[in-house]
Amino acid sequence: MTKTIFNVKKLRADFPNLGVRIHGKPLVYLDNAATTFKPQAVIDAVTEHYASGTSNVHRGVHTLSQQATNAFERSRDKIRDFIRAEKSCEIIFTRGATEAINLVADSYGGAFLNKGDEIIISEMEHHSNIVPWQILCASKECVLKVAPFNDQGELIYEEFEKLLSPRTKLVAMVYVSNSLGTVNPVKDVIDAAHKKGAVILIDGAQTVSHLAVDVKALDCDFFAFSGHKVFGPSGIGVLYGKEKLLNRMPPYQCGGDMIASVTFEKTAYTVLPYKFEAGTPNVAGVIGLGAAMDYVRSVGLDNIAEYEHELLAYGTKALSSIDGLRLIGTAEHKASILSFVLPNIHPHDLGTLVDEEGIAIRTGHHCTQPVMKHFGVPATSRASLTFYNTKEEIDKLVKAILKAKEIFK
Ligand code: ALA
Repeated sequence: MTKTIFNVKKLRADFPNLGVRIHGKPLVYLDNAATTFKPQAVIDAVTEHYASGTSNVHRGVHTLSQQATNAFERSRDKIRDFIRAEKSCEIIFTRGATEAINLVADSYGGAFLNKGDEIIISEMEHHSNIVPWQILCASKECVLKVAPFNDQGELIYEEFEKLLSPRTKLVAMVYVSNSLGTVNPVKDVIDAAHKKGAVILIDGAQTVSHLAVDVKALDCDFFAFSGHKVFGPSGIGVLYGKEKLLNRMPPYQCGGDMIASVTFEKTAYTVLPYKFEAGTPNVAGVIGLGAAMDYVRSVGLDNIAEYEHELLAYGTKALSSIDGLRLIGTAEHKASILSFVLPNIHPHDLGTLVDEEGIAIRTGHHCTQPVMKHFGVPATSRASLTFYNTKEEIDKLVKAILKAKEIFK
């Protein structure tokens, strides 16, 4: 991607939500791992669809339907390019990363995993990359194995390797941890899984807004992400799958648009990607996600990664200077996520107090209870940064934490 001058102030103006005030104070939004704000271009694309382009897709010869179908399929092509997939038919629209993972567990797992087969995940997975595999293991009598991480929150690669066996049929691993920020060595994990003949799913929900992804170079079999975490609408997500695997897999849900023919005796399914897109899809969501892809490309993921790295270093130093604050997740390779705990202040209390200063952070277990268990904490506070955040906002967070500490002294 070409290098451009990164003008945060100018970029912030693209996000109307950044302009709101909370408790009379300018909002400091540091909860981007939960969801990102939407640039005006995405809001406009969604509004335009509802204001003047509303129609169903793949179902009409009338002009509006043709236009909506074209816009819908253009978005698919944009997503293909964004994650460097080979073909557009490998891009399946889902409700989000969660549904994408459930699709693979249900369809691939249901069809190809058998009693005694092994699935490997990591200790730092989001619940959405744990529970579907537990359910699959329970129904198919498979074995779930968990690769541990160390006290920095880094995958212990040798331990992962030890879990691989001739019975390993599937590996599902997060690329960037939502609660720790750890960037996992997924290329090595993918190659090692393939050597054992296993297929591999990468949970990319926290990845696509921070790092450039090339699914072909990674050679992963499946890659899942959500639109709302990459500046797109909520309720729309993507499952990338290799064409040859998707073709072998049975449908996940059944209904309109996924059939070639139906009689009461027999149904024939249609081709990819529609075989996995039963029912009327989230048309506006898909179109909005296409606009988000355009937007992120225009900013440049290399620029984003470089700037976020700077913010992360600044934030790590600033938070570490607070007496007693313990950072949870100090991996060498990290995305811009800062989880922490303070002695004597429960994260929920801290979250409420900093909210009074107009600052939004997430507090809780972040849908990663095993991560909390590893560190012996019930919850953390988490500031998750993106390219529209600034060092001044981090300073405000530090000031608000110090104020909270005074109250709890
Ligand atoms: N998984 C999202 C988060 O980390 C919601 O906050």
